[in-house]
Amino acid sequence: MDDIKERLTRYSITEPFFKEYPMVGEIIGHGTYTSVYKMHSKNDKVAVVKVIPLSIYKTDDKYKEIIKKFDNEFSRLEKIKGQLLLIPLKYEIRSWPDGNGTDILILMEFYELNLKTELNNYNFDFSEENIIDTGLRLCEAVEILHRQKVTHGNIKPENIFIFHSKESDESKYILADFVITQPEHVSIKSQEAINATSKYAAPEIFLREKHKSSDIYSIGILLYQLMNNNLVPFELEIAEDKKAQIKEAITRRKDGEEIPAPHHCDKYSTLSDIILKACAYKKEKRYKSIKKLKASLKGAKKGKEKVPRGDIIRAIAAGLLLILVLAGSIYFFVVIWPTVPN
Ligand SMILES: Nc1ncnc2c1ncn2[C@@H]1O[C@H](COP(=O)(O)OP(=O)(O)OP(=O)(O)O)[C@@H](O)[C@H]1O
Ligand SMILES: [Mg+2]
Repeated sequence: MDDIKERLTRYSITEPFFKEYPMVGEIIGHGTYTSVYKMHSKNDKVAVVKVIPLSIYKTDDKYKEIIKKFDNEFSRLEKIKGQLLLIPLKYEIRSWPDGNGTDILILMEFYELNLKTELNNYNFDFSEENIIDTGLRLCEAVEILHRQKVTHGNIKPENIFIFHSKESDESKYILADFVITQPEHVSIKSQEAINATSKYAAPEIFLREKHKSSDIYSIGILLYQLMNNNLVPFELEIAEDKKAQIKEAITRRKDGEEIPAPHHCDKYSTLSDIILKACAYKKEKRYKSIKKLKASLKGAKKGKEKVPRGDIIRAIAAGLLLILVLAGSIYFFVVIWPTVPN
């Protein structure tokens, strides 16, 4: 058993935090600094716990500071609890049994599917309509965050869960990992770590700056990938060393090389323009707000919408009527009027 699972098992025996989900299950995955495990209830319900180990915060003061930060953020998040955002159920901060570190434990709902696995398995409808809809859904979730003055800063497919409702047969996207579930929040994410995992990060994120337009940029890169054979800008489908190639692609983007139009967009198409504007290198050239990006995507959707047949027939009938009236008037003024005696 690895160290983290061993600690989790010890906590789960003694901590009331795990009362509802006392059994530690399998690992779901690791982030750069995090590990996510399944937790089971006695009646087979599943949740997940994210563990952020902090071996650097041993002093009492730092410990108190983190707790305060978490308490503040938690009450802020309570306000935006809703269907589009994954807000943790609760959190706890625990000392390691050997006293050499601290674990932040965050309990969350479990989601079976995320966008990354769907894309890896090509289990995604890559039609332009669905891509625009995906962009709109992300904009809606991010809009809620931005309204609360929260910047996500790490929008990527691993952090987008998919919930399929059997009742309505509809899928929802749920955006996760903003503020407290991010290790960055407790300032431990290093420069190299950002480099290795940042296929979607805006150039300024590498300089440790983040603002609302960084989220617009990440949505832009994600939409770009969807329109570009599932590849982010400068990523090659086949490469000898795939990891190194992705790193190179990230670096080219980060250094400001102009991003070409996505493969499946006509060079002059509206969607191509929207995507390239969202991921402009300079933040001043991007959409000024998520609302503006949403409005453009809505416009593109309208352009794509098929005009109902009834509307076409009505338009033709109106056109014919107009021609008839015009022809009648011309006939009257040119042929009949000159023959009328003064
Ligand atoms: N609530 C959840 N339900 C299901 N899977 C989850 C949940 N939370 C995280 N995961 C999965 O666990 C894995 C690790 O997630 P984590 O958030 O720790 O790191 P990450 O998002 O992959 O990357 P990083 O945080 O380093 O940028 C990911 O595959 C993620 O999709
Ligand atoms: Mg994550």
